[in-house]
Amino acid sequence: MCGIVAYVGQKPALPILLDGLKRLEYRGYDSAGVAVVTDGHLLIHKKAGKVRDVAAGIPMDFEAATIGIGHTRWATHGEPSDTNAHPHFDCAGEIALVHNGIIENYAAIKSKLEAGGHVFKTQTDTEALVHLVEDWYRVSHDLFTAVRLALLEVHGAYGIAVVSSREPSRVVAARKGSPLVLGIGNGEYFVASDPAAIISNTRQVVYLEDGEIVSLDPSGYVTKTIQNADVMKKVMEVTLELEQIEKGGYDHFMLKEIHEQPETIMNTLRGRLNEKEGTARLGGLRELTDRILAADRFTITACGTSWHAGLVGQYMLEQYARIPVRVEYASEFRYRNPIVGPSDVVWLISQSGETADTLAALREARARGATTAGIVNVVGSSIARETDGGTYLHAGPEIGVASTKAFTSQLTALSLITLMLGRLRGTIGPDQGRAIVHELEILPEKAEKVLEQEQTVREIAREFQSIRNFLYLGRGYNFPVALEGALKLKEISYIHAEGYPAAEMKHGPIALIDRDMPVVFITPRDGTYKKVLSNIQEVKARKGRLIAVADENDQEITRLADFVLRVPHTLDFLTPILTIIPLQLLAYYIAIDRGCNVDQPRNLAKSVTVE
Ligand code: G6P
Repeated sequence: MCGIVAYVGQKPALPILLDGLKRLEYRGYDSAGVAVVTDGHLLIHKKAGKVRDVAAGIPMDFEAATIGIGHTRWATHGEPSDTNAHPHFDCAGEIALVHNGIIENYAAIKSKLEAGGHVFKTQTDTEALVHLVEDWYRVSHDLFTAVRLALLEVHGAYGIAVVSSREPSRVVAARKGSPLVLGIGNGEYFVASDPAAIISNTRQVVYLEDGEIVSLDPSGYVTKTIQNADVMKKVMEVTLELEQIEKGGYDHFMLKEIHEQPETIMNTLRGRLNEKEGTARLGGLRELTDRILAADRFTITACGTSWHAGLVGQYMLEQYARIPVRVEYASEFRYRNPIVGPSDVVWLISQSGETADTLAALREARARGATTAGIVNVVGSSIARETDGGTYLHAGPEIGVASTKAFTSQLTALSLITLMLGRLRGTIGPDQGRAIVHELEILPEKAEKVLEQEQTVREIAREFQSIRNFLYLGRGYNFPVALEGALKLKEISYIHAEGYPAAEMKHGPIALIDRDMPVVFITPRDGTYKKVLSNIQEVKARKGRLIAVADENDQEITRLADFVLRVPHTLDFLTPILTIIPLQLLAYYIAIDRGCNVDQPRNLAKSVTVE
């Protein structure tokens, strides 16, 4: 995800900024840049690529500056490019700003400012904010006030740092929904999105809370709320080491990414729900909407975890939008002379946007005249560029090889697409649409609740760590979750696991069941619940040991299962977004107990760019 670092003090700012940016590299980024104020001028240098590429091209006149801001960008709006890299600046080239997060109402702000004469140079949401600050500066002639007033107009998430040549020794920073920490030195101050960027300079820090803004200059700092109320902050000491900070205090990136899910689900939803109309807005599909609505059927194609998301998508789209959907492994689709033509829409799901088979499937579909749409995490990736349109996940970089947060964001994106198409086709009515919007809005909180059961998962993991085979069973929307739960376990613990539709068990796998073959049932209270209970009885009768992922209010299951993991109740089609989370944790803790390298499992790659 994006990274911020800022400095104001007596020392040359540039080496501090570049060192800070290098320490943020682990977060993943596609471009970087710095801005300094020196000799009454604002100087900016930014580039697509690595921090070292940016550093190599910085002109000499940056070196005397003792104030500056820096940024590593992970694209969300607008492809990775020199122009879209941060810092962004105003019309006069006097104010520069770096931003993490998403400004949801940037389009409205941009139109208003353009009408007032502002000229925009980039495709980013961030640029709207710097022009808005410029507008307020004309009125207030004070950077702190201008930033504060601009932020009152903004919806969305932000961590920002701002400098201006008009106030050459002031940094203004603020946060809402995107972390920011101040580093307190001796006559010098630092700002960073992550303490990793500044702990080589100081371990005394102040954490900003949501809705707080700070003005820093070499003589001190003042914190207020965006509404202009005073706030007193406590200085704390960072005791974590660099490596621990990089993993957010977690032992592994995978665990960090599992825990990020309430936030990443929210990021996928951000700015896309329309409560009043009971629908979703997806800007990246706008130009394709007519073609999508006219399509005879959809094909979803993907690999690995993304393919599992596609299977859930098929169930969602067929049930709610009433469009025939087939789901195919990209590697099969590309080689079997598929029947696809101009009346088809082919959806490509990919976290990386670079998977060779999915990219080849996309090219095959295009060659046959189909409309193509991506559901992709990495902005500006090959699949994102070559599709006719699509939806980004905004889940941030996923570093653990086994996909976790990308999966729940893929499901969230698919539910938004389903909602939008259902409303447009009239298969979802306005009241039902509003109920879905409401449920989506509270889903991040529900994901948070699921994560509270980590201790129970650890106990279950300890019990089963030496088992050699697992069976995962689910039905309806949770059949693909069974596949994905089994895949997680295989990938990182090297235990053989199979996912199956629960009712198919009796056609084969039931022969395997005994005490040494634990069965994981994914059985929230949805339309198939009662049927799955019978399958559970069949396993019990054969002395199988049972772990259930069940609804928080389900008492019946306590009698039947040896271990129960709970998920809050939600709409049937959204249950996979919650039920997969305990299974990710289960795989993680079993792998840890077995001493496996969870972030880099043997033989696997994060992005498979070969056939
Ligand atoms: C690799 C990864 C999986 C991922 C799959 C598809 O196998 O290890 O975690 O699901 O590729 O990747 P994509 O980036 O296209 O979603």
